[in-house]
Amino acid sequence: MGRGIGYAKTIFFGEHFVVYGIPAIGIGLSKKIEVEIEKSSYMKIESNHADANLLKGIEAIKTAIKVQDNFIVKIKSEIPMRSGLGSSAAISVAFVRAISDEYKLNLSDEQISSYAYESEKIYHGTPSGTDNTLATFGGAIIFQKREGGNLITPLKIGKPFHIVIGNTDKRKSSTSEIIAAVKSRKEKNPEIYEYFFNAEKKIIEFAIKAIEYGNLEELGELMNLNHGILSAIGVSSKENEDIVQTARNMDALGAKITGAGCGGSCVILAKNEKNAEEIANEIKKMGYFVISAMVQ
Ligand code: PMV
Repeated sequence: MGRGIGYAKTIFFGEHFVVYGIPAIGIGLSKKIEVEIEKSSYMKIESNHADANLLKGIEAIKTAIKVQDNFIVKIKSEIPMRSGLGSSAAISVAFVRAISDEYKLNLSDEQISSYAYESEKIYHGTPSGTDNTLATFGGAIIFQKREGGNLITPLKIGKPFHIVIGNTDKRKSSTSEIIAAVKSRKEKNPEIYEYFFNAEKKIIEFAIKAIEYGNLEELGELMNLNHGILSAIGVSSKENEDIVQTARNMDALGAKITGAGCGGSCVILAKNEKNAEEIANEIKKMGYFVISAMVQ
């Protein structure tokens, strides 16, 4: 029997734009997914969330690692699926770690992340690689998709801060469908999208400085700006707007979509711990799943 874990993540800044090579800021969360594998004569996934696609991703990983055995794959998850919290990457990373454990492969974190990426391609078409990176390493990183090897830079947190993530569980489209829809809107209005891309680049540049220097007011402001751009490129929803507005009305420093959007999750920067607790309670009352975390 082999076991492994993968972490949930939040894309703090730069979702969607990261697919086109703009740096993104990601944060690993302590919520995790555990995978246990047991050799069997056939492949079977035991999970509340199992679907055909999940099995395809797992098979892609097996092919990449050149494992021919079949397994009963037991998935225990602390995070909802299709929520913008990187659940699919967390499953993939946990599965690769379970394989490494089962066959005593001693895979490095870099190898684990790169095998997990094989299944991310099945789930998301052209994913940036942020999710498998954060699901493997945790921490806070700047991630940039690049030909010939992604650039991953650890990010220094100047001053700890409190975030709240509200998950609407209302996503009708998959990440790859949302990415494809953004691409087609971009192709219809290339000149206007050029402005969005340039603005996003500046937002990320300033957000990195704000995080490093602990300038949380500025960071919140930048989150609000980033959310405006995500709405403009068509990835917001009523549920996302409800969460964002509720948090801002409660004096959050900033709030935005995190992940692919169109439902899914929002991330909120709270003023302090008490503010985070109050916002988390309010979002729970709205009927949504909540994760609170201190980033340090
Ligand atoms: O909602 P999620 O966890 O599938 O995040 C998708 C984030 C995108 O930037 C839209 C895609 C990617 O691969 O980074």
